[in-house]
Amino acid sequence: MASSDQIKSLIKSFGQEDEDRFFASAMQIAASEARQGHASFAQELKALIEDARKNRSLAQFEKGKIVSISPQKRELSELIDIFQPRIKLSDMVLEVGIRSRLEKLITEQNKLELLLHHNLTPRRKLLLTGAPGTGKTMTAQAIAGELGIPVFIIRLDGILSRFMGESIAKLRMIFDIMPQQRGVYLFDEFDSIGSQREQGQDIGEIKRILNSFLINIEKDQSNSIIIAATNLPELLDKALFRRFDDIIQYPLPNNDEIVAAIRKYTIGFSFDTKVNDNVLAEAASGLNYSDLSKSCEETIKEMILSGAKKLHKKFLLDSLKSRRN
Ligand SMILES: Nc1ncnc2c1ncn2[C@@H]1O[C@H](COP(=O)(O)OP(=O)(O)OP(=O)(O)O)[C@@H](O)[C@H]1O
Ligand SMILES: [Mg+2]
Repeated sequence: MASSDQIKSLIKSFGQEDEDRFFASAMQIAASEARQGHASFAQELKALIEDARKNRSLAQFEKGKIVSISPQKRELSELIDIFQPRIKLSDMVLEVGIRSRLEKLITEQNKLELLLHHNLTPRRKLLLTGAPGTGKTMTAQAIAGELGIPVFIIRLDGILSRFMGESIAKLRMIFDIMPQQRGVYLFDEFDSIGSQREQGQDIGEIKRILNSFLINIEKDQSNSIIIAATNLPELLDKALFRRFDDIIQYPLPNNDEIVAAIRKYTIGFSFDTKVNDNVLAEAASGLNYSDLSKSCEETIKEMILSGAKKLHKKFLLDSLKSRRN
């Protein structure tokens, strides 16, 4: 049983919103239960405390509470989107090879403890390259969705341009959050580190930012997943590539993938006339997934607004073709 002092301290710290003391008191209770031989109850308490602590830190970050401690952190949080995605890998149309590489990361992350116990490092650093609308950002969300952890989408170009001269310190702040809050950290528009050159930032500063990123990524010992995404890999310094466990190139959808994606986006609906796969693939050739999804959405809206019961095939084909310019 917890001592009366421990219970009083727990209640007092709750009343005073002293979170650190609240968790410290709770841990003391767990420790004293362990000393009294109630090992499984102590374990259960520790797990509850850890869970509560994680949820609190995420909630506080989202509410801007952590960030209210320092104005710099509040500015930073404006350039980071945090949420718990619901999507899964099965919501994506992916080449078999890419899917299996992503599944490998998810399996290794799900068996994190086992691998760490054997001194093995699970995969957790990915570089995703490919044209716009091919699924790089969606992949980061799907990994977070599969693992049940939040995704942090960091707009790197914003950080670099807003905090000229201070970008290194801002990057450091983000890497400092990683061990405290396990999540998928997506550094979006990663090429902006390389392309700042054109926007007049001095070369020395760009090199320092890049170096600091390399050092941070190498030093990081957290259990978070780090993903960098770019559609301009040629702008990236070659030194970066070695730092990642895997580099995945996202292609535009081929004919089969176009058909599969359109099926996914229109699932639950039927067309007024039979849609031939070849005709569909032809109409959408060269489009990315984002275009396909928008055309499908337009077609669904048109059906609803016109009061029809089925999707108009012609409307979809015209919409796809109109996006091909
Ligand atoms: N592989 C995919 N399977 C199914 N839908 C996809 C896929 N990739 C992209 N989409 C659709 O396209 C939208 C945009 O994709 P996403 O934002 O992931 O592209 P991106 O590669 O990050 O592009 P950008 O380089 O412009 O950031 C998604 O929200 C989704 O609707
Ligand atoms: Mg993206």
